Formats: sequence, structure tokens, C-alpha cells
Amino acid sequence: MPIERTLSIIKPDATRRNLTGKINAIFEDAGLRIVAQRRIQLTRAQAEGFYGVHAERSFFKDLCEFMISGPVVVQVLEGENAVARNREIMGATNPANAAEGTVRAAFAESIEANSVHGSDSLSNAANEIGFFFSESDIVG
Ligand code: CMP
Repeated sequence: MPIERTLSIIKPDATRRNLTGKINAIFEDAGLRIVAQRRIQLTRAQAEGFYGVHAERSFFKDLCEFMISGPVVVQVLEGENAVARNREIMGATNPANAAEGTVRAAFAESIEANSVHGSDSLSNAANEIGFFFSESDIVG
């Protein structure tokens, strides 16, 4: 299976509840490696830029507001099929639909405050990683 990299974000609802370590233990136990990581406060412009594909959606304004409501941890996960694997581990976007044992089933508060973000394709992963990291930040 191909070794891939994907962008993961631990969202403000999770950093607020001190869940960074618990969530990352789930990723690591599943075989994904954290090869770059930074805890940051997003600016509104960064949040709007990152979620630009959703600009026309009804939830866009609230989503950006939420994403700047506290610190986030942006990180690159590496491993076999990392894009799909990360999405399996996270569970469905809406925690009401997330399978048992997934991060969102365990921790998410709502569809908006859903604890984690993960890239949804390999090409989006490359773009999203580039949004926060340069190649020299990533140490495999
Ligand atoms: P994420 O994977 O970060 O990608 C976009 C985010 O928008 C999503 O997770 C949710 O947190 C948020 N969001 C809020 N409302 C909705 C909605 N109705 N449908 C999809 N995503 C939503």
C-alpha cells in the first residue's frame, strides 16, 4: 500500500478540553506517524482561506468563527493509505453518524465542533499540507 501524507487539524473544541494527546494516541496506535506539528491560533483570513471551498455554504461563517475560537493543532500524518485511513479513524463528519471507536464518536460535540479535520483526497492533502507547512518542516 502506498505511503501517503495527509493534513490533520485538532479543532478548538478538542484543544479546549485538553484532548490533543488522547486524539493523537488514537492516530499513532492506528499506525499513522505525526511527521510535522504546530499549535497555532488561526486568523480569520487563514480560516476563510483554508475552508475557501465551502465559502458558499450556509455554515461557512459559523465554521470560520468556530475555527478561530481557540487554538488548533495542525499536523501532517504519514502512513499507508494515510488519507483514507485518517478519515476512517476520524469517523463521519456528523458525530451522530460516526461509527463506534472513531475519534468523532468519542469526542465530537456537534457537526461543527467535530474535534478533527482530515484531508478528503490525496490532491487536497497536498494543498492543505502546503497551506501550513513547507517541505523542510516535515521530518519523516
Ligand atoms: P471538516 O472535515 O473540517 O470540513 C468542513 C467542516 O464544516 C466540517 O468538518 C464540519 O465541522 C463543518 N460543518 C458545519 N456544518 C456542516 C454541515 N452542515 N455539513 C458539513 N460540514 C459542516
